[in-house]
Order: sequence, then structure tokens, then C-alpha cells
Amino acid sequence: MDANNITVSFATAEHVKHAERVCQLIYESALQRGTGIARRSPEYISAKMTGGKSVVAMDGDKLVGFSYIECWEHGDFVATSGLIVDPDYRNLGLASKIKEKTFQLARLRFPYAKIFSITTSLPVMKLNTRMGYKPVTFSELTTDEEFWRGCEGCVNFDILQRNNRRLCICTGMLFDPGTQPVDDAQEQQQQVNKMAESVKHRIARLLHIK
Ligand SMILES: CC(C)(COP(=O)(O)OP(=O)(O)OC[C@H]1O[C@@H](n2cnc3c(N)ncnc32)[C@H](O)[C@@H]1OP(=O)(O)O)[C@@H](O)C(=O)NCCC(=O)NCCS
Repeated sequence: MDANNITVSFATAEHVKHAERVCQLIYESALQRGTGIARRSPEYISAKMTGGKSVVAMDGDKLVGFSYIECWEHGDFVATSGLIVDPDYRNLGLASKIKEKTFQLARLRFPYAKIFSITTSLPVMKLNTRMGYKPVTFSELTTDEEFWRGCEGCVNFDILQRNNRRLCICTGMLFDPGTQPVDDAQEQQQQVNKMAESVKHRIARLLHIK
């Protein structure tokens, strides 16, 4: 297959028909690796697609990759999770593109949030590091109970529980926007301002306000 034909974009409602496939890819990969990726239901994945919180890689009408974001503690933290690439499409640089797009989505939607991910995957650690994430202990991540409940579907959940949630097999990685160079922060802020302007414009048009 030709990697140039694959598009990586923010998911929308039109991708909901592929939610089942995402779950299947995640499940098969978890079985194969023997280490966890928390299982997710098709309903959960669909909600990420319709809610503007996920990224899809498509080869024509075939879904070949996915990742999503979720915010915690009222937007203080945002997690990038569930990265998966179809086994037939690996080592083409697709995870790298999906990660970048997911990071972009997180920065656009939650510009002031700390972005984090927990992972056992070497490729993911590599990609996170390139984007400015640093390895941290779990004490630096969100304390939101709901986030950690998401680990219940992982085969290693007993390890997390046994250690009072202080550590597990995953490495925590954190991007703190407060420690980023000013240029980057300014650029992100400009994009956010642009989005806010565009939303205001659309609302004004809908309400017929001149
Ligand atoms: C991990 C995964 C997403 C990587 O997808 P991919 O599209 O093959 O990755 P890429 O081609 O973009 O490669 C990204 C980097 O990781 C490296 N990499 C990819 N697979 C690797 C492996 N098995 N071991 C070590 N490095 C690997 C690549 O060489 C590349 O590094 P480089 O840019 O320095 O050359 C994919 O293997 C997958 O879906 N695995 C199962 C699910 C999973 O582990 N998800 C992460 C859960 S946190």
C-alpha cells in the first residue's frame, strides 16, 4: 500500500461506523502484546468521534489508525490515549502522524492543560519525547478517579491497585505548557483566538446579529 494515500484527520460523526473496528484493533493488539491497553466500548469510541476528541487515519474508506483525547480535573489535564495502528499499516510513520494530530487537537481544545499519556510502548515514548513530553511519576498526573478507573480494563490493573496507584508497568509522560518556549505558546494562543473568532462569527450569523 502507498502511505501517501492515507489521510490523518480529526474524526467526525461520519467515522462512527468505524468505532467497532477501532475496538477490535485495540482488543487484538492487547491480546497479542500481553500488556495492557484499556478496552473501550464502541459507544465510548463513537462519543469521542462525535465529540471532536479523536483522530482517525483512513485508507480510502478503511480505518487504519486511531487515537483520542479526554480532559480531566475540569481541563487542568488532558490525556492522549488509545493510539492504535492496523498491523498491516505499521512502520510507515503513521503513529507519528496520528500522535502529532492528536497533540495538535489537545493543544487547540485545551490550550492551558497539561497533556499526559501513560504507556508501555517504546514507539510511543519516542514520539512523546519528540513532542516535549517528559517522563514523570504518577504523582504528577491527574488525580481524577474516573481517569484511573479507565485502567480497570487493563490486564495489569491489579499491579496498579496493589501499589495504591503510585506506579504500574506504564510510564507516565507529561507535557507541561507552562514550561514551553514563549513562541510556541504564542502560536498556539493565536490559533485558539482564531477558533474563538470563528465560533463567535458563526453564532452571530445564526442569531442574525450584524
Ligand atoms: C505502537 C504503534 C502505534 C506504532 O505504530 P507505527 O505506525 O508502526 O509507528 P511509526 O511507523 O510511526 O513509528 C514511530 C517510531 O517508533 C519506532 N517503532 C515502531 N514500531 C516499533 C517497535 N515495535 N519497536 C521499537 N520501535 C518501533 C519507529 O522506528 C519510529 O521511530 P523513528 O521515527 O525514530 O524511526 C503500533 O505498533 C501499534 O498500534 N501497536 C499496538 C498498540 C499500542 O501499543 N499502542 C500504544 C499504547 S500506549
